[in-house]
Amino acid sequence: MSSKTQDEGTAVAVVGVGRMGKHHARTYKQMSGVNLKAVVDFEIGRAQSVADEYGCVAYGSVQEMLESHPDVNAVTVAVPTQFHRATAEPLLKRRIACLIEKPLAATVADAKALVGCAEEHNAVLQVGHTERFNPAFRAAEALNFNARFMQVERVSPMTFRSLDVGVVMDMMIHDLDIVLMLAGSPIKSVDAAGVAVLGEHEDIASARIVFENGCVANITASRMALNTERRLRVFSESGYINLNYQTRDGIVVHTDGGNRKALAKVREQVAQGVDLSDLDYKDIVEVSELKFDLPPGEEDQLTAEQASFLSAAKHGSRPTVDGLAGFAAVDAAERVVRAIKEHTWEGMAGSALLNGVE
Ligand SMILES: NC(=O)c1ccc[n+]([C@@H]2O[C@H](COP(=O)([O-])OP(=O)(O)OC[C@H]3O[C@@H](n4cnc5c(N)ncnc54)[C@H](O)[C@@H]3O)[C@@H](O)[C@H]2O)c1
Repeated sequence: MSSKTQDEGTAVAVVGVGRMGKHHARTYKQMSGVNLKAVVDFEIGRAQSVADEYGCVAYGSVQEMLESHPDVNAVTVAVPTQFHRATAEPLLKRRIACLIEKPLAATVADAKALVGCAEEHNAVLQVGHTERFNPAFRAAEALNFNARFMQVERVSPMTFRSLDVGVVMDMMIHDLDIVLMLAGSPIKSVDAAGVAVLGEHEDIASARIVFENGCVANITASRMALNTERRLRVFSESGYINLNYQTRDGIVVHTDGGNRKALAKVREQVAQGVDLSDLDYKDIVEVSELKFDLPPGEEDQLTAEQASFLSAAKHGSRPTVDGLAGFAAVDAAERVVRAIKEHTWEGMAGSALLNGVE
C-alpha cells in the first residue's frame, strides 16, 4: 500500500451498486480511514446517482475505473452472483483485495477458480457472509461449544428478487457457511427436499446434513413465508444456544454450574418416581443472555465485515471468511440442490413445481 494511499485512507471502490452494493458504498463512506474513490455499474445512471450521493466518481466498467484509479487496493464486488468470477478475476490478478458478496460464485467450478486465482496472485479474498459479523453469532462463537446438533430456520416473505437462483443459493447459503464452521468437520451426507413455487428454482428447502464427526444440522429456508424468522439453535455437551439473527440477540443455557446441580436433583427425583408434574421446568433452568458488543464504530455488521476485510487487505492476512470458506459453502449448496433434485415424492419428482400455495 503506498504512503499516499495511507495518508488519504485506504482507497476503495464498489463494483455493482444495486441493492447490496449501495449499502457497501454507504458504509465505506461512513468509515474513518477509508477513501471511497469510485463506484462501477454498467447501468451508468445508477452508478452516477450513487457517486453523487457519496461524493466519488462513477464508471461503467472496472477497466475504466482502474485506468483512472490505479491506487484502488480494495474492492467490494456486488454484481449478480453469476458475474462474480468474470468481475473479480481481473482485480485479483492485479493483487487488489476483493470482498465478494455471498455466495462466492454461482457454481463450484467458478468458486474454485476464484480461490485459485487469489492464491496464485497472493491477493486477499473475503466472502460476504455477513452473518459471521452478527453480534449474536459472535457471542455464540466465542462460547466455543462443540456443536452436536443444529436446528436452523431462515424464512421470509417473497421479495421477488434473486429469482435467478434458488432459495438454497440465495438464503440457505448463509446458514451453510455457519454450520460448516461450527461443525468443523467435512460433510458425510446430505438429504434434502424442496419445492419450486414461482419458477424453475426451489423457493422452499429443507436439508439434513450429517458431518463426519457425527454432528447433524437440520436447515430450513423459505422465501414464501408469511413472517421473517432467522434462527439458529445449537445443542452441545456444554450447553444450548438459541439465537435470533434478526434481533441480534439470544440466550444460552450452560450445562455446568447451577444447571448441572438442578438437573442432577431432578434426575434423582425422576428415578425415585416423584411426581414432578407441578414443577415448572423453566424455573429450574438458569438462562443467560447472549451478548456481544461490536467494537465502537462497528456496531453495524456490514461495517464490521468491511473493517475486517480492510484489515486483512492492509496486512495481507487471512480474512475472517476466506475464499476456502466461501467455496465450501457453495459446494455444500450444490450438494443440497442435487439432493433436492434426487428426492421424489410418490407421483412427483424432486423440486417439483407446485401450482400455488394452499
Ligand atoms: N450479504 C447479503 O446479505 C446479501 C443480500 C443481498 C444480495 N447479496 C448478494 O449481492 C450480490 C448483488 O445482489 P443485489 O441484490 O445487490 O443485485 P442487484 O441486481 O440489485 O444489483 C447488481 C448491480 O450490479 C450491476 N451489474 C451487473 N453486472 C455488472 C457488471 N458486469 N459490471 C458492473 N456492474 C454490473 C447491475 O446493473 C446492478 O446495478 C449478489 O451476489 C447477491 O447474492 C448479498
